Amino acid sequence: MTIYPVLIDVPHASDEKPPERMRKQREYARRALRHCATLTGAPQDGWSQQEGGAPIPNGEFYWSISHTRGLAAAVIAKTPVGIDVERIRERRGDLFDEVGVEEEWQLLGGKTWPAFFTLWTAKESVVKANSLGIGQLDECRLTHLGRDPHVSDRPPPEPPASVCPDVWSQGCSKLDFRSTTWFVQHRHIDANHIAAIAMTEPHRVAWSPHP
Ligand SMILES: CC(C)(COP(=O)(O)OP(=O)(O)OC[C@H]1O[C@@H](n2cnc3c(N)ncnc32)[C@H](O)[C@@H]1OP(=O)(O)O)[C@@H](O)C(=O)NCCC(=O)NCCS
Repeated sequence: MTIYPVLIDVPHASDEKPPERMRKQREYARRALRHCATLTGAPQDGWSQQEGGAPIPNGEFYWSISHTRGLAAAVIAKTPVGIDVERIRERRGDLFDEVGVEEEWQLLGGKTWPAFFTLWTAKESVVKANSLGIGQLDECRLTHLGRDPHVSDRPPPEPPASVCPDVWSQGCSKLDFRSTTWFVQHRHIDANHIAAIAMTEPHRVAWSPHP
């Protein structure tokens, strides 16, 4: 199965107020969802949510959306799926220890902000695929890092012996969450934005910009 996540730029003015910015981000995420539905062969409507905001599957289709300043994204799949996009920026230094453990920072090559958002988006996409939230991030553990997500254009090196070749060829990382292995594929969109998709299997992923 191929999954077609859609990314869309959200234009914003520097003097835009947060409520207006959020309204626009949410609107663009839904544009991305409609385009994703077209690419996936899913219906254009019927994408409803629980009271708390978690997506309700639309027939056989699971879905997820995410939005941040300047970018929105959507994904639809026939298996549980979660997406997260984040703007890479400096945060409080103590967040490194809240979000990851030493073994995870070692896999990621150290505590840098790109590494932080790689781990954050991986874990958030997994909890979203489970209709949960950031309260459950600390139950996720990164166990394998896929092809270096910081440099997406670099040709992949040979897979380490510990990584299954299929997973490596899709550039997937692996995370454990509540005794289940989740496959996460990252996309480093530009110097300031990163996206992650969590899947129950290492599906082929064809990222598409919104036309
Ligand atoms: C869900 C959550 C991780 C989203 O993170 P975020 O960085 O604020 O936002 P994102 O842009 O990545 O995603 C927002 C979208 O996720 C979806 N969403 C909301 N809650 C969700 C949930 N529990 N699971 C999956 N998706 C959810 C919505 O579609 C939302 O977009 P919308 O408000 O435009 O409809 C965060 O808001 C959170 O932790 N909420 C607490 C939810 C929770 O713990 N629920 C417990 C239920 S038992």
